[in-house]
Amino acid sequence: MTIAAVVTAAGSGSRLGADVPKALVHIEGRALVAWAVARVREIADAVVVTAPPAHLGAFVEAVDGLATVVAGGQTRQDSVALGLTALDLADDDIVLIHDAARAFQDPAIMAATIAAVREGADGAVPVVPVVDTLVGAPGRDGVLGDAVNREALRAVQTPQTFRAAVALDAHRRGTAGATDDASLARELGYRVVAVDGHEWGFKVTRASDLPLAIAIAAQLEAP
Ligand code: CTP
Ligand code: MG
Repeated sequence: MTIAAVVTAAGSGSRLGADVPKALVHIEGRALVAWAVARVREIADAVVVTAPPAHLGAFVEAVDGLATVVAGGQTRQDSVALGLTALDLADDDIVLIHDAARAFQDPAIMAATIAAVREGADGAVPVVPVVDTLVGAPGRDGVLGDAVNREALRAVQTPQTFRAAVALDAHRRGTAGATDDASLARELGYRVVAVDGHEWGFKVTRASDLPLAIAIAAQLEAP
């Protein structure tokens, strides 16, 4: 049984607005995708990275032999499907689906998702409490929607980890437009459990996220 991973990195990073795809942005001298692959490699035997088709060479260079690079698709869901195909999985393998944008997720969290799947779950995802007060979107009159009980909600991180047969089935039969892999699997009736996430599993999205990424990278590099 192999522990395999798809690291999704084929997005452009429009909200970050850098002049290269987000996963190639350097943090403490290393591309974001290289940070992600290094951490996933602590857990997984085989890693496929999905990259923007126009930048394959730069991604191959960035991952420095630690992962196979394939072209991603138009949407994250397309990219994951392409990555899963490239992994050539056996049904009883375990596969992590992880965003390069969450490059600093703690490997202990990744291991916890794997343990949950080994214990019998079809899938496992890290979740964290919501820190903001939440309300419904305001109407045309500008009046706030109803308050939402944030204690009842969790924010979902990656890796989203599955028995390989489940991930393959979810991406083969799932509907277009699901925002994550767990939603696809759950639509088909699979049992996906939660493990505690980590604050370092945040998604690098906007320029204001970079100082935190740099601070974490510096801490990881410190002797
Ligand atoms: N991703 C992908 N293929 C796509 C779109 C996204 O592999 N067609 C990946 C991104 O590279 C990222 C992860 O999915 O690692 C989560 O997406 P997001 O953080 O939204 O990244 P981008 O789509 O690149 O950013 P933005 O939405 O700001 O353009
Ligand atoms: Mg996006």
